[in-house]
Amino acid sequence: MPTPVDIAPARGKLGVMLVGLGAVSTTTIAGVLAIRKGIAKPIGSLTQMGTVRLGKRTEGRSPKISDVVPLSSLGDLVFGGWDIFEDDCYKAARTAGVIEPALLEQVRPDLEKIRPWPAVFDKHYVKRLDGPNVKKEKNKKDLAEQVVADIRRFKADNKLDRLVMVWCGSTEIFMTESAAHQTIDAFERALEANDPAIPSSMVYAYAAIREGIPYANAAPNLTADIPALVELAARTKAPLAGKDLKTGQTLVKTIIAPGLKARLLGVEGWYSTNILGNRDGEVLDDPESFKTKEESKKSVLDYILQPQLYPDLYDHLCHVVRINYYPPRGDNKEGWDNIDLVGWLGYPMQLKINFLCRDSILAAPIVLDVALFLDLAKRANMHGIQEWLSFYFKSPVHAPNLYPEHDLFIQLMKLKNTLRFLKGEELITHLGREYYD
Ligand SMILES: NC(=O)c1ccc[n+]([C@@H]2O[C@H](COP(=O)([O-])OP(=O)(O)OC[C@H]3O[C@@H](n4cnc5c(N)ncnc54)[C@H](O)[C@@H]3O)[C@@H](O)[C@H]2O)c1
Repeated sequence: MPTPVDIAPARGKLGVMLVGLGAVSTTTIAGVLAIRKGIAKPIGSLTQMGTVRLGKRTEGRSPKISDVVPLSSLGDLVFGGWDIFEDDCYKAARTAGVIEPALLEQVRPDLEKIRPWPAVFDKHYVKRLDGPNVKKEKNKKDLAEQVVADIRRFKADNKLDRLVMVWCGSTEIFMTESAAHQTIDAFERALEANDPAIPSSMVYAYAAIREGIPYANAAPNLTADIPALVELAARTKAPLAGKDLKTGQTLVKTIIAPGLKARLLGVEGWYSTNILGNRDGEVLDDPESFKTKEESKKSVLDYILQPQLYPDLYDHLCHVVRINYYPPRGDNKEGWDNIDLVGWLGYPMQLKINFLCRDSILAAPIVLDVALFLDLAKRANMHGIQEWLSFYFKSPVHAPNLYPEHDLFIQLMKLKNTLRFLKGEELITHLGREYYD
């Protein structure tokens, strides 16, 4: 048997810091509070409901994941966060309009206690937003020190043992790596110089990582996925995950596309469009924020279908992604996919998918799982990019010399094998010859 990895126990309280108390964050927090009270179920969460098979199929061992690896229990989670609006978590959840008021009332006192700390915010990076609850420091270095102070205060006030941070803020404008992102020194100089290459999200990420705190990015903007912050994470032993939660349409895409490729069915075109009416939809209505999202959504098919290996099937694939801001629908997104397929002898076929989903209902269990798994990674001394958490993201962060793995089923296998590896259990290869020997 392989040797298990030493994992520190999940003793004491875990502080979960969410940047941005919008639809995703409030749905996560209110959900955890409701589940804690026994009035709702954690559907969609692998850490709460998932199992992992250990050993041979004949052994009948499929314990719950939470019984295999030491995870923080929901009762030990304490939430805090930042937002540019002053609304407490109850008011913010009402504004988001995802969870029905009757359920929110049952957790209202606890939600009201969560009041956002003033945010690091610059309208340059999120054009459609503006709010009053914003820090006013001299430069971005001072802002980062303020965030560090918030983190330390939150830890001390709540007697927390450990912390994680997840960016659930709005999608920032499209940015690419530049010189300021290459080394820790260059990055710190850029913070002091108020360099525009450093968006607000990077200020938070820097603060968390410098403190050795696990950090995840739920949105598609460039944050911790730059060499300077990866280098800092190696130094401070902070685990990293991201980016852009894989929820509605992209989740379905990464379920369907591997199946089509497995059967060597060609795809000539994949047209995805959706309507969305929440604040995220409003922010994405700005072309610069949409560009960030579009890049994240579009890369998926190329990596899954591998046109370089299958030119006859996927070389001329036309992939179009549209998001339309349509307020009447609120958080209840409706997505349409039209897939133009090609079968035997080149005969065309079509597949249509109409997904009436709820964006934040799909996102909340992911935020919870990512927070708990990142804390596990930290206690298992696994730092830097946690590729085994790709399962949760549209644009998985990855080592520079690798392509990202997008296939949901390979991602799940990788995640579960990582849990087996941590516990010193045999990895499952699905070869299975021994059953027939
Ligand atoms: N819901 C999903 O299914 C899903 C899936 C993938 C990614 N995402 C991403 O997650 C993020 C959150 O989504 P949402 O639906 O909760 O959006 P939202 O607009 O409801 O919430 C975002 C919150 O972040 C706040 N904010 C923006 N910039 C900030 C800053 N610099 N500091 C502190 N707070 C800031 C906003 O005021 C807002 O309250 C978005 O970037 C979205 O694209 C969501």
